Amino acid sequence: MAEDLNVIEGTKEEQYQSLLPQIQGLMEGETDLIANLANVVAALKEQFKWFWVGFYLVKDGVLVVGPFQGPVACTRIRKGKGVCGTCWVEKKTIIVDDVTKFPGHIACSSLSSSEIVVPVMRDNKVIGVLDVDSDQLNYFDATDQKYLEQIVAMINFV
Ligand code: SME
Repeated sequence: MAEDLNVIEGTKEEQYQSLLPQIQGLMEGETDLIANLANVVAALKEQFKWFWVGFYLVKDGVLVVGPFQGPVACTRIRKGKGVCGTCWVEKKTIIVDDVTKFPGHIACSSLSSSEIVVPVMRDNKVIGVLDVDSDQLNYFDATDQKYLEQIVAMINFV
């Protein structure tokens, strides 16, 4: 496994294309879920310098914060609450251009302006979500959705 991430400049597309094989490499041969999630969020944060990136995992019927990079965050999110809890119910990626306009958005930080949440599925059930927050409005688009869904699909949720 490579120990240093090769961080590049370029378009969003180019950055994801550089990052994806590196993320694959980081997880190669490793079956520990927390280890893999921790390295995935570290790699994403290092490349994109997002405000907050992390996983929430379903535990005893509630989303509990898992490995993340960024400021401290809310620990537990109930089903249907906030963007993460809505993603859990809808089982699909949600992009929020302006979090102040999303009814029920959970503001872990007033600096967060836009957000994308990708469900992590197993056997058609949501077992967690990948949540990314930007301090810029309208940051996330179809490119983020495409590649973040691919990254989530790579993770071995054993
Ligand atoms: N804003 C999220 C809560 C998690 S924090 O952004 C890290 C939400 O509304 O679900």
